[in-house]
Amino acid sequence: MTTTRRTDGPLSSSEHAALTETVTAHNYAPLPVVVAEAHGAWVTDVDGRRYLDCLAGYSALNFGHGHPVLLQAAREQLERVTLTSRAFYNDRLGPFARDLAALAGMDLVLPMNTGAEAVETAIKVARRWGYRVKGVPAGQAQIVVAAGNFHGRTTTIVSFSTDDSAREGFGPFTPGFTVVPYGDADALRAALTPETVAVLLEPVQGEAGVVVPPPGYLAAVRQACTDAGVLFVADEVQSGLGRTGATFACELEGVVPDVYLLGKALGGGIVPVSAVVSTHEVLDVLTPGSHGSTFGGNPLAAAIGHAVVGLLETGEYQERAAKLGVQLRDRLDDLVGHGVQAVRTRGLWAGIDIDPALMTGRAACERLAERGVLVKDAHGQTIRLSPPLVVEPDDVDRAVDALAAVLDAGGR
Ligand SMILES: Cc1ncc(COP(=O)(O)O)c(C=O)c1O
Repeated sequence: MTTTRRTDGPLSSSEHAALTETVTAHNYAPLPVVVAEAHGAWVTDVDGRRYLDCLAGYSALNFGHGHPVLLQAAREQLERVTLTSRAFYNDRLGPFARDLAALAGMDLVLPMNTGAEAVETAIKVARRWGYRVKGVPAGQAQIVVAAGNFHGRTTTIVSFSTDDSAREGFGPFTPGFTVVPYGDADALRAALTPETVAVLLEPVQGEAGVVVPPPGYLAAVRQACTDAGVLFVADEVQSGLGRTGATFACELEGVVPDVYLLGKALGGGIVPVSAVVSTHEVLDVLTPGSHGSTFGGNPLAAAIGHAVVGLLETGEYQERAAKLGVQLRDRLDDLVGHGVQAVRTRGLWAGIDIDPALMTGRAACERLAERGVLVKDAHGQTIRLSPPLVVEPDDVDRAVDALAAVLDAGGR
């Protein structure tokens, strides 16, 4: 069937929503807000209404919308060269990878595009490392993952999801994964076998509702991996790059994994940029032809990613996240028992469990949007706050005040 392109004037908010629902697949259920413009922590809809963006593209917008340094890097690169493919070198990838590796304290970077691609890449690398370096018999490699994980949407990744809605109807699934409870280091240690090549974990489970593991868990996982000769792969696609008040969430626990997976904020909210960052021992198992991506490491992505690394090198954003995170936590803690059952925070990142007797997480998000604050629910009763790290202290108060007002209004 063909559709004809209409040339009528600007659409209203509800017309945009209706059009999108008519012509796109229904794999999302957006809030009824049609964004037309955004700067810093604020977005404006097609009717000119302003909202405080407290989702920040699931942390892809850690530096806010249209950060001038990132826009400048993108603009300059747009005029020079945007895509070469890895069939040739480009003059942006080397400097970006050098400085990203240094930021992470690692040797090498493997650039990809989306977070899921970084995870897929790490699975392949860990398996090959297992066969070639650890000596696991061919086809036997196992990877230990945690219940409640979210690592992306590919068929292999959803194979080890514990969320039925992510899996239903998508089998057959990829074998080779063992799921253990999140936060239980003994269970994890018990699951390691001679065939285990890697443990793949989020240092904080974002999608699950900002689930923070017990103190000492990540250090115990690190030790278990070292003892068993297994790679510790930290998926910091959402937790990394400043969000938690440190460059990497692992740092807060004094832990250095073998592999960092990065994405989201690495592209500055402008283009998708992801990376597997690790050591020679791990990434040297890849050889020409064994892995690749048409867009991975393209000069535009590398120029923006390099500018992101430059922002993180200042330490300013990590510091803001830590400082504003204390303010956010203190304010949210006051809501516990007043429509909120529990709050979990790490830096400028919060999971808030709304009392089911009052309303669903979705209803809370809708009412917050009516009050000019954009957030997203996760798994029914939980809402997530992850404002851009450039947000002002007054805006943090504004978001919590709006939530308090929504809860006060209760079922109304
Ligand atoms: C921890 C983690 N890993 C991987 C992904 C997948 O990233 P993408 O949506 O860019 O594929 C996400 C996305 O939310 C994530 O939170």
